[in-house]
Amino acid sequence: MVAGLALTAGLVSCDSGNMRRDPGHVYAPDMTYSRAYDAYTANPNFEDGLTSRPPVSGTVARGHQLPDHLVEGDTSAYKSFTTSLRFSEDEIKEGGRLFNIYCGICHGTGLDGQGPLFNSGKFASMPANFKDAKYLHMPVGQMYAGIKYGKNMMGSYASQLDIKQRWMVIAYIKKFQSENGGDAFTFGMDTHPAKEVAAVEEKSGEM
Ligand code: HEC
Repeated sequence: MVAGLALTAGLVSCDSGNMRRDPGHVYAPDMTYSRAYDAYTANPNFEDGLTSRPPVSGTVARGHQLPDHLVEGDTSAYKSFTTSLRFSEDEIKEGGRLFNIYCGICHGTGLDGQGPLFNSGKFASMPANFKDAKYLHMPVGQMYAGIKYGKNMMGSYASQLDIKQRWMVIAYIKKFQSENGGDAFTFGMDTHPAKEVAAVEEKSGEM
């Protein structure tokens, strides 16, 4: 009975017999009615009428890397292409996290090419097994090109991973490979100056 009354009251109060279009008193009109141009509204201040502006040409957004200048198909450049970025343990771990998100579905979280998508039989092409001799000594630049441009059945991951993230993922793969028969892991190592000084001191101590 009480519930019924409440429902009726609710319905009655919603009855907009005479439509109420006046929102009533606006407490902070300069907040309710933005004076700034919203991102997707027309903007009379620019010739193209867009409020969202593209980046100014020749500039790099804060926190982003310079463009890499790698050219698709220039396979000899792939072999020598590398980065001067250096990664901490945490950043390599982050590379692993990104790998498991974007790559693990095909390459497997064990990096053996046995990801769930491939194992399901729904993806016909065998993803690279990073333990395999074919990939164990693969130049980092070639891996980078694979991520940036894709390779045959593998699509490009350029829009998902920025330049630094691509290299962090590669550092993660290379570290894994060094522990599974690959070359010693030196790529992108965080060579902190303090450690070098300590090493030099240790050496001179020995003499
Ligand atoms: C949809 C499945 C799929 C996903 C997701 C995927 N790959 Fe691949 N990847 C492949 C396949 C298939 C190949 C083998 C391509 C070939 O040689 O035909 C491959 C090859 C590669 C190679 C070797 C490239 C070369 O030059 O031979 C690298 C490196 C690689 N993948 C890295 C990655 C990384 C890093 C990610 C995540 C950012 C990723 N892949 C995500 C399917 C995938």
